[in-house]
Amino acid sequence: MCGIFGYVGKQQNAAEFVLSGLKLLEYRGYDSWGIALKISNSKSQISNSRQNRDSKFITEKHIGKIGNAQLSSNDLRSNLAIGHTRWATHGGVIVENAHPHLDCKKEIAVIHNGIIENYARIKEGLLKKGHKFVSETDTEIIPHLIEEFLKKEGFASAVRDAFNQLKGLNAIVVANSLSRQIIAAKTGSPLVIGKGNEGFFVASDATGIIKHTRKLLFLKDREMVILGDDVELLTLPSGKKKILRFEQIDWKIEDVEKGKFDHFMLKEIYEQPKVVRNIAENYTSQIKELKKLIDKAKGTFLIGAGTAFHACLAGSYFFSKIANIHINTTVASEFNYLEDFLNSKSLIIALSQSGETIDVIEPLNHAKEKGSKIIAITNALGSTIYRMADYKLLLGAGPEKAVASTKAYIAKVALLLMLSYAVAGKVNRAKKLLLDASREIDILLSKKNILKIKKIASIINSSEHLYTIGRGTSFSTALESALKIKEVSYLHTEGLAGGELKHGPIALISKGTPCVVFAPQDETFDAIISNATEIKSRGGLIIGVGPKKSPIFDYWIKIKDVSEAQIIPHVVFAQILAYYLSVERGHDPDKPRNLAKSVTVK
Ligand code: AGP
Repeated sequence: MCGIFGYVGKQQNAAEFVLSGLKLLEYRGYDSWGIALKISNSKSQISNSRQNRDSKFITEKHIGKIGNAQLSSNDLRSNLAIGHTRWATHGGVIVENAHPHLDCKKEIAVIHNGIIENYARIKEGLLKKGHKFVSETDTEIIPHLIEEFLKKEGFASAVRDAFNQLKGLNAIVVANSLSRQIIAAKTGSPLVIGKGNEGFFVASDATGIIKHTRKLLFLKDREMVILGDDVELLTLPSGKKKILRFEQIDWKIEDVEKGKFDHFMLKEIYEQPKVVRNIAENYTSQIKELKKLIDKAKGTFLIGAGTAFHACLAGSYFFSKIANIHINTTVASEFNYLEDFLNSKSLIIALSQSGETIDVIEPLNHAKEKGSKIIAITNALGSTIYRMADYKLLLGAGPEKAVASTKAYIAKVALLLMLSYAVAGKVNRAKKLLLDASREIDILLSKKNILKIKKIASIINSSEHLYTIGRGTSFSTALESALKIKEVSYLHTEGLAGGELKHGPIALISKGTPCVVFAPQDETFDAIISNATEIKSRGGLIIGVGPKKSPIFDYWIKIKDVSEAQIIPHVVFAQILAYYLSVERGHDPDKPRNLAKSVTVK
C-alpha cells in the first residue's frame, strides 16, 4: 500500500500541497518518498534533481519516512505536482526506486500503487525500442509505455492504452508537463479525486485532501479521470465518457491530525468511548436491515483479515450465545479454499477497516460469481469492498491512521454485538451494554489506570515472550491483544484459547513468563482461573483482567462486568499496554516496521 497525492490548478504552490498531502498519507507507506513537479520558472534547482529547462519535470526523492521533511529548495513555484510515499514491493528501498518515475523526455511522471504482473515482458519490449531505465521497479515501465503511445495518439488515449496493457490490480497517477494535466486510473487500490477552489487533487484516500476540499469523487475500478482546467470521467478499457458526481463527506481536518497526542494510535484509543456511544445511539435502523438479510440467508459467513478476523470470531460467539444461530467465520485469505459450497442463498459479511484488503476482495469476487449476497462493514466510504457489497454499513469511527487498528476493531465488535441482539429481538439490551462498555473505557483511560498499565509495561518490557489467554468470546480478545502487542512493540506475543494450554503451549512457560488472563464474569471464569493457576505454578507472572480479583493475580486490572460487551474494555487494556510497550522500546507505534495500514497487494 502506498501514499499517492497530486495537484493541478491555478495556485503556484503545488509542491507545498503535495508535500503536506504526503505527510498526511505517510501511514500508508514509509520506506521512501518522492515528488515530481513542473517548475513554473525554470531557474530553480533542487537537490539530486535533474537539470531542468522549459516544461520538463524535476524530481526529488529520499529514503525513509517523510516525517517533517522539507524540499531542498523552497522557492519552487509550480501548479502541477505529484508525490508518493512508498511501501516497497518490486525493488529494494533505494532512492532510484522511489516514485515518481519519468519517461525519457521527462515530460511524463508516474506514481503507482499495486503490482504489474506482466511488467518484465513489457520492459523487454521497451528496452528493445531504446528506452533507458534507472530503477528496479515495475512502475517505471508505465511512463515509457505512455511515451511510446504518445508517438501516435493524444495524452488521454496514450494513458488509456498503456494502462489497458497492465495486468494485475493497479492504481496509477500520470502527470503531463506539456498538457499540464493529471490522469488517474485504477483496477484496484483506492484513488479519490477532490474538487477545490484552487484546482483538482488526487490521493490514495480522503485524508490527504479534506484540508482543501470535502467535495470528493471515489474512483471506481476500470475508471479513468482527466484533471486539468476541467474534469472528465471515462470508463476503461473503452475510454467512453461517464457522468460524474462529487460527494460531500463530513470528516473534519482535526480528524486527520494528531492534535494533543504524541501518536495517532493513542488518539484513536481515546476516541473509542465516543465511537461505541455513536453505535449504541445511532445504528438501530441499519442493524435491523442487516437482521433481515441474515434471517433470509441460508448460511452466513463472517470474513476478515488480521484484527478484522478477530472481530469476526467474537461475532460468531455472540451469534451463538445471544441469538442461538450458527454463523461461520474464517480468516479471509483461507476463505478462498473454503467457499466451494457458496450459492445464491449464502450471505457473506465482510469486515474491513480500509475496505481495500486484497485477501477479502478475492473471496468476495468468488462469492459474487456464485450469486451470494454481500454485506460490507467498513470504515472507508467508496472503498472497493464498500462498492462491491449489496449492503454497506460504515463503522463511523472516523479516519484511522495508526497501522494498529483500535477504534475500528471496537466498532466492529460493537456492531456485531448489536446485530446478534437484533437477531434475538433484543436490540435495546445491546444499546445499554454498549453504553456501559463505553463508560468502562473512560474509567480505563483515567490517569490512575494509565499509570498502572504503564508500570505493567515497564515490568514485562524485558520479557522475551508474552502470552494472552481467554475462553469463549475472550478467546478473540486474547488473539487481538496478542496482535496489537506484537505488531507495535515487536515483543513476541501469542494469543491462546485457555483450554489449549495443556495441549502444548504450557511447555513454553518458565519462571517469570508473563501472561495476561482475560477473566470476565461469565461461564469461562472458573476454567480460565484454573488455566492461570497452571501457569502460575510453573513460575508464570499473571496479569488478570476482569471484574473479580483472584489470589493468583500478580497484577489486576479491574473492569466492571458489562456482560458480553466486556470484551470491549478488556481489549482496550491490551491496546494501551501495546502502545506503552512500543514507546518504552523506542518504536513508533503509528508506523511499525514491515507493516502497512492496508494490505492491498498479496
Ligand atoms: C490491525 O492492527 C493490523 N494492522 C491488520 O491485522 C489489519 O487489521 C488487517 O490488515 C485488516 O485490515 P482491514 O481491516 O483494513 O481489512
